[in-house]
Amino acid sequence: MVPFTDTPSWHALLAHRDALAPTPLDALWRGDPERGANFTFQCAGIAADFSKQRADAETLKLLVALARERDVPAAIATLFAGEKVNVTEGRPALHMALRGDEHFAVGGHDIYPEVQRNRERMRVFADAVRDGGWKGATGAQFTHVLAIGIGGSSLGPRLVIEALRGESDGPQVRFIANVDPAEFDDATRGLDEATTLVVVASKTFATQETTMNAIAARDWICGSLGEGAAAKHFVAATANRAAAAEFGLPDCNVFPFEDWVGGRYSVWSSVGLPIAIALGSARFEQLLAGAHATDLHFRSNPLERNVPALLGLFGVWNRNALNMASHAVLSYASRMENLPAYLQQLEMESNGKRVDREGRAVLFPTCPVVWGGTETPGQHAFHQWLHQGTDFASCDFIVVAQPMGSRAIHHEILLANACAQSQALMTGNDPGDPHRVSTGNRVSTTLVLPKLDAFHLGALLAIYEHQVFVQASVWGINPFDQFGVELGKTIANAILPAVQGANVPLHPATSHLLDVIRKLSESH
Ligand code: F6P
Repeated sequence: MVPFTDTPSWHALLAHRDALAPTPLDALWRGDPERGANFTFQCAGIAADFSKQRADAETLKLLVALARERDVPAAIATLFAGEKVNVTEGRPALHMALRGDEHFAVGGHDIYPEVQRNRERMRVFADAVRDGGWKGATGAQFTHVLAIGIGGSSLGPRLVIEALRGESDGPQVRFIANVDPAEFDDATRGLDEATTLVVVASKTFATQETTMNAIAARDWICGSLGEGAAAKHFVAATANRAAAAEFGLPDCNVFPFEDWVGGRYSVWSSVGLPIAIALGSARFEQLLAGAHATDLHFRSNPLERNVPALLGLFGVWNRNALNMASHAVLSYASRMENLPAYLQQLEMESNGKRVDREGRAVLFPTCPVVWGGTETPGQHAFHQWLHQGTDFASCDFIVVAQPMGSRAIHHEILLANACAQSQALMTGNDPGDPHRVSTGNRVSTTLVLPKLDAFHLGALLAIYEHQVFVQASVWGINPFDQFGVELGKTIANAILPAVQGANVPLHPATSHLLDVIRKLSESH
């Protein structure tokens, strides 16, 4: 496949960009009373307002033409057909199979029965933990869950449980991701071993941080309750049943998923077990249902009104035509404080790539830096940079229509601020004093959820998953591998003996840095 930058539709888009450049975004809005309606689309109950993108009807047409030229519709069909879209690892990417009631096949084998069986086992277990049917070794009911895992094995459950904390009616969940011992100490402080269930989530069951934390948790619980307690207090969510067995877990404590579920797409699998325990399996099912509604939308809607596809295409427009290297996720929902971190992994681990699917270096930028925060606190921190900085960032505003707390006036202020910020970024102002000038012409998309519940959260996350896929399809890269994370892990393993005092060959820069660390450690 030729690079997308060599296609006629991309050349048409660049010519169009130059023609559009003199017209400020605000003027595009003022010149078209229908712009709001024409640039707002619905997906699974979520409204996506693209009217503050630097684009007109022609841009939309040309972006869709680009997607067609890049065979995005065929790529979507291939994804859902269970073909090996993860070309470097020779696997399909079928996280969609976990959240609907459709029959998907892998290598001609119907995976539906197994998916449903795993889902049912999760449901039964989560309900049993919640109602006391599954108790700890002393016969006490569980009050807390320690959720051990990192990256995709942690960020999803953490986001969902914290976003829906208003509905939490089960055991409290605490997360341990980092190998920093402070995290283990902080998470276990005040917990009673007898009433704590540990869920170890790891696709590979070989991740160093997770393994160390799982061993520490086992020492902590079994040190107090005896070796036999592990079978009652530990369960695993993994694609590596053998490693879980080696850790000492019987089969019935292992909730498996398959290698066609990527780590950053695994919240829908048994990795979501802490969600089902904290919020109930009915809410977990709602999360899946929301994501499934997005899948149906993504598969069946023409690109012109396909929200994940448009989100992806405007991302390409901003990144490659308008040269924005930075993308901010601005969550006007304090409970969704972990959304930027979740999307950071989803987008940057998927599309932070420098070669195409065939292994050739790409000659255009791919994934921008994804970052963000919760609002309104971010307005009192980095929004200065968004309004007056020398770089231009694209922004996603995440807004929830219905109040998330009891004080109506607070929610009204929240909404006013969300609308004000995207308007100010677009219009800017010029009061004469150069220090006070905001240039405006700064772009954003606003995604409006009717309410912050499991269904719409699931729908939102799936929108972003498919956005990533669409961008990868245009760029011609594989979003489903992550080899870039391996080198550092390997080097860390080689350095560890030196940290522990052994005399092993080191790069001089590392040797120097370890010396600096050692001296400071000894001097205090
Ligand atoms: O280091 C990257 C990564 O492989 C992520 O893709 C993954 O989500 C995370 O580590 C955790 O991996 P695992 O679930 O195998 O422990």
